[in-house]
Amino acid sequence: MVICNLSRRLPEENISSKGQKAVNHFPCDLTDAAAVARTAATVQTFLVNTLPAGRILLINNSGFGAFGHFPEPHLPRQLAMIDLNIRAVVHLTGLLLPLLRTRGGVIINVASTVAFQPTAYAATYGASKAFVLHWTLALNEELRGTGVSALALCPGTTTTDFFEAAGVGPGATVPALSMTSDAVVDAAFRALAAGSALVVPGWKNKLLTFFSAKLPKPLVTRIAAKILARLRLKGGTP
Ligand SMILES: NC(=O)c1ccc[n+]([C@@H]2O[C@H](COP(=O)([O-])OP(=O)(O)OC[C@H]3O[C@@H](n4cnc5c(N)ncnc54)[C@H](OP(=O)(O)O)[C@@H]3O)[C@@H](O)[C@H]2O)c1
Repeated sequence: MVICNLSRRLPEENISSKGQKAVNHFPCDLTDAAAVARTAATVQTFLVNTLPAGRILLINNSGFGAFGHFPEPHLPRQLAMIDLNIRAVVHLTGLLLPLLRTRGGVIINVASTVAFQPTAYAATYGASKAFVLHWTLALNEELRGTGVSALALCPGTTTTDFFEAAGVGPGATVPALSMTSDAVVDAAFRALAAGSALVVPGWKNKLLTFFSAKLPKPLVTRIAAKILARLRLKGGTP
């Protein structure tokens, strides 16, 4: 298995137990469309030369959020969020899809439980993940019979650097509702094996998204706003 990572920084876990390079890092700021196009071409050449055959798993994982009254923290950050959470997903998938069609493969797009309802105080973030969820499900339908499928992964709160990057302080999340990234990855691979188009890891998140999807949109928006307002206050965002 050859692993390629497109992000700005070299991943911390980059050395395998045998001391060999485990991850091939292709530095790329995915908010920069020209950089995405350039890096996707480099990765394709690398894949074709290093591993001429074999299925491809494309995971669109990079993303960030921001909490506050729109446009807090500031408008350029909101626009960069759209560039990363939405445009880069569509761009990278579009550029790599011909190779996936030729060799077979799977696309995992990381959405979120916030995709299931509007999220006041994280309006752009929630809407960006709703895009990823709907876009992935539609893409998966279009891809039927092509040897390529798409999976929308919708985790709830997960213990990563996400909340720090979003400017929310520690203590803003409820540990009992958090999952580890290992548990989320496990759920994703189980869903892949089952051929699912959508997975919400963890029963608490499944319950939450079930009701979010069923309730009238204005009502669920109001409930989510009350919860997120508390998060915003606890986090002390700008
Ligand atoms: N943690 C949660 O509670 C949670 C819940 C639901 C969904 N999610 C989603 O899960 C995904 C992963 O987030 P995480 O929780 O692992 O947060 P994280 O620890 O903050 O990781 C964010 C990732 O995005 C990459 N990234 C950020 N800006 C980038 C840029 N401009 N160009 C390229 N890569 C960039 C980072 O890599 P570099 O810094 O190397 O660029 C890093 O790998 C995101 O899409 C997030 O929305 C997270």
